Amino acid sequence: MTLIKSARDKWSSRLGIIMAVAGSAVGLGNFLRFPAKVAANGGGAFMVPYFISLLLLGIPLMWIEWTLGRYGGGFGHGTAPGIFHSVWQKNRFIKYFGVIGIFGPLVIFIYYTYIESWTLAYSFFALTGKYSQAIDQAGMKSFLSAFQGLEQNQYFTGLSTAYLFFLITFIANTIVIFHGIKGGIEKFCKWAMPCLFLCGFILFLRVLTLGTPDAARPEWNVNNGLGFIWNPDFSALKSARVWLEAAGQIFFTLSVGIGVILTYASYLSKGDDVVLSGTTAVTVNEFAEVILGGSIVLTAAFVFFGPVDIRTISQGGIFNLGFVTMPLVLNKLPLAQLFGFAWFFLLFLAGITSSVSLAQPAVAFLEDEFNLKRNKAVFIFGLVAFVLCHIPVFFLKNGVVDELDFWGGTFFLVVFATIEVILFSWIFGMENAWKEIHHGADMEVPKVYKFIIKYITPLFLLVILSLWLIQDWIPVIFMKNVPPDNRVYILATRILLLAIFATLALLVRIAWKRKYKKG
Ligand code: ALA
Repeated sequence: MTLIKSARDKWSSRLGIIMAVAGSAVGLGNFLRFPAKVAANGGGAFMVPYFISLLLLGIPLMWIEWTLGRYGGGFGHGTAPGIFHSVWQKNRFIKYFGVIGIFGPLVIFIYYTYIESWTLAYSFFALTGKYSQAIDQAGMKSFLSAFQGLEQNQYFTGLSTAYLFFLITFIANTIVIFHGIKGGIEKFCKWAMPCLFLCGFILFLRVLTLGTPDAARPEWNVNNGLGFIWNPDFSALKSARVWLEAAGQIFFTLSVGIGVILTYASYLSKGDDVVLSGTTAVTVNEFAEVILGGSIVLTAAFVFFGPVDIRTISQGGIFNLGFVTMPLVLNKLPLAQLFGFAWFFLLFLAGITSSVSLAQPAVAFLEDEFNLKRNKAVFIFGLVAFVLCHIPVFFLKNGVVDELDFWGGTFFLVVFATIEVILFSWIFGMENAWKEIHHGADMEVPKVYKFIIKYITPLFLLVILSLWLIQDWIPVIFMKNVPPDNRVYILATRILLLAIFATLALLVRIAWKRKYKKG
């Protein structure tokens, strides 16, 4: 294979690519998933494994994906099958492992876009005061359930409102993707990210000045709310589950192990820096997650509901803090409508800058490997994704979102990251890899990462996978924790996921046969 000068799209500026990668990383994971995980796992107890996972998994994988993506882009490949093949040309099977890098983002896109559409709907409800009739946890929960079509009550009697917002969100995503890397994603992220941070800062300052809202409970104050996240608890290091959740959160939030950073980096030029840009993207994401996401949601919930309820609320469901507690808290403040809008619109911007990145690998695969023009590739992707998105819309109550999130958004991330790191440090070779990382780099990666990337990161990933296999595979495979009524839906979802995977693998085979005249 030779390096090609292709007509592939390119980023127009360094700021643009950083905004886009940060846009992909900063998402619903930062503002909904992270606070829920921290609260459910006892606050500061979660943060120790979280930061260790960031240093040993997240940051190395960010550099690896930027480097592999740029390398593969030089051969005209923007997705994992082609990128993996460029790295290990002698191996006929490695491209099929790369299928995970298109499958994962597509599966996440299917449910992510639907959840994103709720945030747009709630931005609208905040401005119009629609949810302000709900004045306690139970009321706000019924509002959310009725909106999702899980029950009928005075707020909603069917799914039509949710469906309308889903359509708007889906079309908005398609328009951004249709305009391409430079003209769509980069342009959009360049205004969406500052706007997101503006909303975040407004809410952050507001929450920090909440003081002690309930005089009868002086200990429910902002200081103790911040302490809930920042007082470390080393005893949790003994729990395998907390480690798995912390590592899973790092993958999801940084968008590593998914395949999207590979695709974004494939639009870089050979001399573009990846070290500083990758590090900046991590820093922006962690600022948004820990400083903004954690402080806004957890502190606000703490001062109004206290340390015990905050845990119960978050254990009751991943969306409770964001869609139930936050609107209740913000409704207690002056200018509630504006703060409510700022919160949900921040979520929407965080969501859409991530979902467009989740769509891009499938589009890039069709463009790069089948030589389709962008409008055709986007049309095919749009059609398939539109049909698939109806699954979470109509079968949310049957547990399909959790199922899609488990396979697409958790399990395969760890598998894919393990393949990437082994390929990078053992097949490509650490000396080559080190040179490739530093090509055009404005800063040097600390030398200790040579050792970490070669030994610690793969070992850490293999331990996580083994722990999962030991602890969880039997209950997961046999659906032990799935209510009997839902089992048929979960089984159908699994069959569908297998079919999607098989179709993508077949497409890889066809593309390679056409390109290289042998499979
Ligand atoms: N990284 C994206 C998020 O955190 C997927 O939501």
